[in-house]
Amino acid sequence: MKNQPSLICPVCREELVRNNKSLVCSNNHSFDIARQGYVNLLPVQQKHSLSPGDTKEMLLSRREFLDGGSYSPVCDSVIKALSEYLPENPGVLVDVGCGEGYYTEKIHNSLDIDCVGIDISKDGIKMACSRSCDILWLVATASHLPIKNESVGAVVAMFSILMQEEYARVLKKGGIVAEVTVGSSHLTELKSIIYDEVYPQHKHPEEPKKMFEELSCRELNFKTELDNKSLRALLMMTPHFWRIKEERRKMLESTPRLTVTADYYVRVLRKL
Ligand SMILES: C[S@@+](CC[C@H](N)C(=O)[O-])C[C@H]1O[C@@H](n2cnc3c(N)ncnc32)[C@H](O)[C@@H]1O
Repeated sequence: MKNQPSLICPVCREELVRNNKSLVCSNNHSFDIARQGYVNLLPVQQKHSLSPGDTKEMLLSRREFLDGGSYSPVCDSVIKALSEYLPENPGVLVDVGCGEGYYTEKIHNSLDIDCVGIDISKDGIKMACSRSCDILWLVATASHLPIKNESVGAVVAMFSILMQEEYARVLKKGGIVAEVTVGSSHLTELKSIIYDEVYPQHKHPEEPKKMFEELSCRELNFKTELDNKSLRALLMMTPHFWRIKEERRKMLESTPRLTVTADYYVRVLRKL
């Protein structure tokens, strides 16, 4: 990494420095660098369950689905937005809620930018390590990022948690947030197999907070034909999996192919 991220202790917020195979702060809070290269910076007091975040099954399905390439237009559109709006000399980019690291790796490779991938799911971060050892992978929560104030050039949040105040804290002035959120017709065809009725929803990114200006907000969509394997993986990686009734699950499992709509917003905010 050319630009080292400035990390802070998740317990006392003091600077973390490397000491052999650990990161340590001046109050002697110490965090081991795991064999795979990631660091767990999620103290128990910031955990709301034993294994927070997406489960291993969801993450494996997400990896299978994303590696199949069906969402590559989503990836291309966020990379395009970043290349248009990244500030000069952005330094470090943080992907918050990076999951198993698909988008982080693509962003890192396409833009040649130093990246940190953060997720609350330890299983996600362990999987992400296998994607790249040039990215720093951290288990941490989006609500208390273990990152120094005003030290990064960009935050990315792909279908992930949006914490505008916390993102503003870690961004340098002029730094950007690129967020991808679902649009109103996202996966309607899948939902009409899962639910008896699909109610029209109006989804739009929430208003930017006063520390940001909106540079761009585009609603994009495309259709993609999924085979049965991808369809099952898509179901498994969404919360719909927990809600689907048995007979609907069987119906979906016997659907050989389905064309689904991906409808999403790509929005870029700049810190004032
Ligand atoms: C819908 S998934 C998106 C994953 C990835 N960005 C992608 O699009 O493939 C949301 C991710 O946010 C993570 N997550 C949920 N709450 C979080 C939090 N408070 N802090 C950090 N990550 C969180 C989940 O573990 C999950 O990996």
